[in-house]
Amino acid sequence: MNKKIGVCIVGLGRAGRFHLKSIKNLDIFHLKYVVDTQLSEDDEVVQQHDFKLLKTIDEALNDDTLNAVVVSSPTQFHFDYITRSLDAGKHVFTEKPLGKTLAEIQSCFDLAAKKGLALYLGFQRRYDYNFKTLKSTIDQIQPIKIIKTSSRDNPKPSLEYLKISGNIFHDMLIHDFDMLIFLLGTRVPKSVFAFGHAYDENISTIPDFDTALVTIKYDKGLICSIDTSRTAIYGYDQRLELFGEHGMAIAENERNHSVQLHTAEGMYIAPINHSFPQRYKAAYATEMADFGNGILNQQLNNVTKKECVLGHLLANAAHQSAISGQAIDFENYMASQAVSF
Ligand SMILES: NC(=O)c1ccc[n+]([C@@H]2O[C@H](COP(=O)([O-])OP(=O)(O)OC[C@H]3O[C@@H](n4cnc5c(N)ncnc54)[C@H](O)[C@@H]3O)[C@@H](O)[C@H]2O)c1
Repeated sequence: MNKKIGVCIVGLGRAGRFHLKSIKNLDIFHLKYVVDTQLSEDDEVVQQHDFKLLKTIDEALNDDTLNAVVVSSPTQFHFDYITRSLDAGKHVFTEKPLGKTLAEIQSCFDLAAKKGLALYLGFQRRYDYNFKTLKSTIDQIQPIKIIKTSSRDNPKPSLEYLKISGNIFHDMLIHDFDMLIFLLGTRVPKSVFAFGHAYDENISTIPDFDTALVTIKYDKGLICSIDTSRTAIYGYDQRLELFGEHGMAIAENERNHSVQLHTAEGMYIAPINHSFPQRYKAAYATEMADFGNGILNQQLNNVTKKECVLGHLLANAAHQSAISGQAIDFENYMASQAVSF
């Protein structure tokens, strides 16, 4: 491909807008279309940028000069946009979660492989330099005995978003399950146990949880915990800790600046980043660059089918455990889904 990669963004909300920024800043892309059912020509974001706004994706898919589609619509539409784009011969980058069911996930990977097209997933934490550095410490401190992650959102997403998000395990903790897979590979856990609670009555009626704690036990003793909340008053809280035989490695939050003020009254440090667009600004840019380079260099995935399937099943198991109050025997659960690695 000599020319720039012609790209279409589907869904220009919170996620679509950080992808728009990345694409605009990357020379390898030419943004041709945005498909959004609710945006109009009068909206500021449309006026400020040069793309054709569409209500449906058909015109974009019929354009032979369009090479790729970035799917950042609400989750329930991902599968349809991904499969239609792949069928039309377009490379796809999709926001998480890829699909709502195991069958959807498997069929998207199979279709992309059959067509020889790229299928990239928006697991931006894999591109974050803190978490990449943390991963590089594993050899020095292993065997790892405990992995501890705090993953708290801010601000709380709208109820409209939450109602169609799937649930907290598939919408939010899917990033944390993917981080475990990023660190450990497709190691299959023995057992998954989760508690959940909805402090927000509106969220309880969805029904969903806004707060959860998941523990995962692997063979050889490794225990992982993920604590999560839909909102943290002090900012977007994302910490990850590895505890091993030969030491500990911690990826801390990023702050708005690193100046500390010490006075007779005590110490002041700057707040942590407000939300995900600030915290993962660099990672969002890097993942989109990786997608573009993947298309140019025939590197067709950033996350494997196996990894994506494992993350999905962990989310299912955690959800099932939080509902039932029972630990889930994960190997049995995988077998019941006819999945074996
Ligand atoms: N990786 C991340 O950090 C991250 C962060 C936020 C959201 N997400 C993911 O991005 C996706 C979108 O979430 P969001 O927060 O941007 O939601 P949002 O509600 O802010 O934006 C969704 C956009 O899609 C448009 N839309 C609605 N129905 C559509 C349809 N059928 N076709 C095309 N466009 C449609 C809406 O008008 C809106 O502009 C979700 O799947 C979510 O899981 C990922």
